[in-house]
Amino acid sequence: MTPDLMQSGAERWARARQRAAVHGGSGGRAAPLAHPVAPGAIDTSHGCILYVDDVHVSFDGYKALNGLCLNIALGELRAVIGPNGAGKTTMLDVITGRTKPDRGSVYLGTTIDLLRWREPQIAAMGVGRKFQKPTVFERLTVWENLELALAADKRVRSSITFRLSAPQRARLVELLELIHLEAHAQRPAGALSHGQKQWLEIGMLLAQQPRLLLLDEPVAGMTDDETERTAQLLRTLKGQHTLVVVEHDMAFVRAIADQVTVLCDGAVLTEGGFEQVARDPRVIEVYLGR
Ligand SMILES: Nc1ncnc2c1ncn2[C@@H]1O[C@H](COP(=O)(O)OP(=O)(O)OP(=O)(O)O)[C@@H](O)[C@H]1O
Ligand SMILES: [Mg+2]
Repeated sequence: MTPDLMQSGAERWARARQRAAVHGGSGGRAAPLAHPVAPGAIDTSHGCILYVDDVHVSFDGYKALNGLCLNIALGELRAVIGPNGAGKTTMLDVITGRTKPDRGSVYLGTTIDLLRWREPQIAAMGVGRKFQKPTVFERLTVWENLELALAADKRVRSSITFRLSAPQRARLVELLELIHLEAHAQRPAGALSHGQKQWLEIGMLLAQQPRLLLLDEPVAGMTDDETERTAQLLRTLKGQHTLVVVEHDMAFVRAIADQVTVLCDGAVLTEGGFEQVARDPRVIEVYLGR
């Protein structure tokens, strides 16, 4: 190599270093490497906790998801609505690793490619999911259910022997209050009402400190009073957790959501504030008007 080439190469290298210093971690393939993120931690430094792009899922030729795109900001409470069969549950199945899409991208934060992981691993990364039907241990008390959920969190399991530590006990008491079950702690979960079981399951998910919480029709089958209390609970969680809530109950959606995404035929029809979405003639046609 001639001295000229060496000189120009060195100058280019110095300019590139200067550019990197000025622009910090933003943009480019090296962006995720530009700030320290612990291995396995969710990198939300760009404000996004979930990124879904052009996801396709077909079942025997039927397109359940057909180019789905979704961006969820850290701390957001997003409602996802849409007619039956729109692909809402399939979307949750893809995010949680239950269904692998034919193509597309799904990232937790900017660096974790969820399509490379299976369901239990994704749950362990901090993605909690509540299915439509409550799945609590009916014979155990409310308290025991919460205790078990806490023990299921690998981050605390090693510190659990036979007794909870004082901070863990305090955390469970706090959770009991949050889910309005403080008066029912010693009752078997099987004796609770449908709505109370749903709250218990939400409490069990919270015990595991999820970063992203996915709820599929949490107020289906609830009384009006239970629905209102659930709306209060979710509003309390907003900010500390990121929530994606799939629901059909429009009064509930209006009460909780900042942003509403409308799914239809496996893709996003529109997104926006509740009032804006509810006025959209396309939404009225495919969903609200039915
Ligand atoms: N495992 C499967 N095998 C075949 N078809 C499926 C499967 N899962 C979902 N589907 C179909 O994919 C489409 C989308 O289903 P999905 O359950 O995601 O809709 P949804 O929006 O959650 O509807 P709902 O509001 O009724 O819960 C439906 O037509 C459904 O029948
Ligand atoms: Mg569904």
